[in-house]
Amino acid sequence: MFTTNIPLPIKSFTALFAGILLLFMLTHGLKAEERVAGPKYDAQGQLIRIDGWRQWVFIGAPLTPNSLNDGKAAFPEFHNVYMEPTAFAHYVETGRFPNGTMIAKELLSVGDTEAVSGTGYFQGDFQGLEFAVKDTKRFPNEPGGWTYYSFGHALPYEKVAKAFPTEACASCHVAAAEYDMVFLQYYPVLKAAGPK
Ligand code: HEC
Repeated sequence: MFTTNIPLPIKSFTALFAGILLLFMLTHGLKAEERVAGPKYDAQGQLIRIDGWRQWVFIGAPLTPNSLNDGKAAFPEFHNVYMEPTAFAHYVETGRFPNGTMIAKELLSVGDTEAVSGTGYFQGDFQGLEFAVKDTKRFPNEPGGWTYYSFGHALPYEKVAKAFPTEACASCHVAAAEYDMVFLQYYPVLKAAGPK
C-alpha cells in the first residue's frame, strides 16, 4: 500500500501534528464556553440577580408606548436591553448565544415628551427588571434552554426570581423572535457584532 512507503518519522510527525491540532481545537472550544460567566441559582433553584447589568453591553431600547397603541400597549415602557459581556464576546466570535448567556431587560416609564430638540419619548423612571437566561444543562426541556424571570417592578429589585412557565414568556419568543428566541430584529447592535 501507498502509506507503507511513507517513512516512519514523517508518519509520527503527522500523527503528532494532528494530535496537537485536535487538542488545540478541543481546549479552544472549551475555553470559549468556560469564559462565559453564566447564571447562579439558590438552593430552591431560583435565579440569583447578578448586579451590574447597567454596565453590560447595551444592545437596544425598544418602546411600544400607550400613545401609539390606543392607550393599551401590552408593554408600554422603554426596555433597555443589555447582554452579559462574556456571552457577548462569545457571540462576536461565533454568532451563537453560548450556554450561560444572560440578557437583562430593564423597564423604564415614558417620561417627558417635550425637549429642546422637539417632541418625542424620553426615558423616565426605572420600573422593572427581567432576565432571559440560556441554560440547556439545567433546562433541557425548555425551548432553546431559555428561561425567563422577573425581579419585580419596584426598586430595590428582588434578589432572586423563579422561572416563568414556558407558556407565559417563552412561547411568544419562540413564535416571533428572529434568532434563537432573541428579538434580534430590534437589536442592530447585536446584528452588527456577529461574525461577518
Ligand atoms: C407577546 C409576546 C411576548 C411575551 C408574552 C413576552 N415577551 Fe419578552 N419580548 C417580546 C418582544 C417583542 C421583545 C423585544 C421588543 C421589546 O422589548 O419590546 C421582548 C424582549 C424580551 C427580553 C430581551 C431579550 C430578547 O429576547 O429580545 C427579555 C429579557 C424578555 N423579553 C423577557 C420576557 C419575560 C420575562 C416574559 C414573561 C413574563 C416575556 N418576555 C414575555 C415579546 C414578548
